[in-house]
Amino acid sequence: MTGPIPKPGILDIAAYVPGRAKLAGVERPLKLSANENPFGCSEAARAAFLAAASELHLYPDANTSRLRGAIAEKFKLEPERLVFGAGSDEVFAFAAQAYLGPGDNAVQPQYGFAAWAIAVAATGARMKSAPEPDFVADVDEILAAVDESTRVVFVANPANPTGTWLPFSEIERLHAGLPACVLLVLDGAYAECAIGIEGFSDGLDWSRDKQNVLVTRTFSKAYGLASLRIGWAYGSSSVVSALDRIRLPFSVPRAGEAAAVAALGDDAFVRRSVAAFDQGRRELDAALRDKGLRTLPSATNFVTACFDDAKAADATFAQHSILVRHLANYGMPDWLRISIGTPDDIKRVIAVLQQVDPAKAP
Ligand SMILES: Cc1ncc(COP(=O)(O)O)c(C=O)c1O
Repeated sequence: MTGPIPKPGILDIAAYVPGRAKLAGVERPLKLSANENPFGCSEAARAAFLAAASELHLYPDANTSRLRGAIAEKFKLEPERLVFGAGSDEVFAFAAQAYLGPGDNAVQPQYGFAAWAIAVAATGARMKSAPEPDFVADVDEILAAVDESTRVVFVANPANPTGTWLPFSEIERLHAGLPACVLLVLDGAYAECAIGIEGFSDGLDWSRDKQNVLVTRTFSKAYGLASLRIGWAYGSSSVVSALDRIRLPFSVPRAGEAAAVAALGDDAFVRRSVAAFDQGRRELDAALRDKGLRTLPSATNFVTACFDDAKAADATFAQHSILVRHLANYGMPDWLRISIGTPDDIKRVIAVLQQVDPAKAP
């Protein structure tokens, strides 16, 4: 018996594997596997979300006008050059759908964020991975991978799952080396964590006069609204006009839009979160290094560390009801990614590191 047959390539896609959220027999494990904000979200955002409960029967504003206006004002951007999606994940899918098809390719650094490759493969195009020596995106390698069939280049700055970042001069060099017909998607999911680091820029202002750059951002990380799935992007009028034609009209829910607008107005929450990520990252990084483990220099809300036996270390954390992310499916089988939790969460992680050597099997 034959049934519907998916397009060529669809069944070759390995579905996205999210950070584990459940642990058998443990009611509330400490989830440090998805880089969420352990401090929740702004109180103002929560209140706005609850207030929107009376409007659940209404479709969202298809133009996301309030949030569009609030982002444009805050970041000094032209509102008509913004596009929204169900998380930045959906924006990547729009970009791939609009610019890629069979015979085309996209290029990413070797340890690129997994959702990009899925978005690319779904269009029938191929993802090429440029070597990342020492776990930092390498502009020369990316440019060397670009060929006449390349239509999109994806780079996250800072990057996930490595946490490493590039000085903005490197992003400029990458853009300068790309043909005008190649769209550079600059994924700023963790940009809030890195703003203020010397040499870092989120690229929003720089991209204003670029025809082939799409800067993506999310409310899922520093703003603590991962559950609401709100991502946005800023691009040239021509790129945004292409994405606008294929996006689905109601990706951003009404309550989510209300919460995001309120969250944007609460700078203090984001500042406090980022300061705590910074402090927590230093503590965790130092504890891991004290154990003799290698860590990558992170500018995000997570630390990525190398273990003799990462699978065993993952199991050791799980025995203590802590979920971290084993990076085997990113081609980093010796590495674990640990999200920065609250100060108490970090103490728990460090206590496990002290009690049990996670380099050894449990
Ligand atoms: C580098 C990077 N980009 C994008 C995203 C997706 O974020 P969202 O779809 O929640 O906006 C993530 C989420 O972990 C990420 O790590």
